[in-house]
Amino acid sequence: MSGMTPGLRYLPGYLDPTAQQAMLAELRARVAEAPLFTPVMPRTGKPFSVRMTNLGPLGWVSDRAGYRYQPTHPDTGRPWPPIPEMVLNIWRKVSGYPHDPEACLVNFYGQSAKMGPHRDTDEEDFAAPVVSISLGDSAIFRIGGPERGGKTQSLKLSSGDVLVMGGQSRLSYHGIDRVLPGTSTLLKDGGRINLTLRRVTRP
Ligand code: SIN
Ligand code: FE2
Repeated sequence: MSGMTPGLRYLPGYLDPTAQQAMLAELRARVAEAPLFTPVMPRTGKPFSVRMTNLGPLGWVSDRAGYRYQPTHPDTGRPWPPIPEMVLNIWRKVSGYPHDPEACLVNFYGQSAKMGPHRDTDEEDFAAPVVSISLGDSAIFRIGGPERGGKTQSLKLSSGDVLVMGGQSRLSYHGIDRVLPGTSTLLKDGGRINLTLRRVTRP
């Protein structure tokens, strides 16, 4: 794809429908132990439109106190469930990074959820990419450069697509403009799941 931010790798249809179903089944079992919660913005307490949970030794949370990684679920107080092996295997194949990720953020988007432009900067090590896996309804993903308000490009992320944000794109502004309802039958009630895998600490 031309004009793409350097370091951004788009792998459409990386997971076939059978693999998507298998991943969904693994996620359901883990999300049952670590339920989706509604994060709120630091200071203002304004709720996000996405619901989220995490898998792995560290999970990303946002509340009035700020953004951070922590080892436990904010509501249950229990450790996050482990990242499924089939999810780790995708990171091992596509990340080009020699250590496993520590965080798998699970974002659930209902039909009207979006995610405003932001950069992922709460990690210690930006040498590792962010690897994103999409399941369910397609969504319009937008990515710009290192500064807010710069030129952007959009990409439609569909069920089974993998996106690797490495190199310069690792610190680019990005977000989700909107979900395209009715574009997938994977989730019975519609909506979209996005997993983002991240290395948090420096090995
Ligand atoms: C994110 O930036 O955390 C999520 C991106 C996506 O939902 O595709
Ligand atoms: Fe992000």
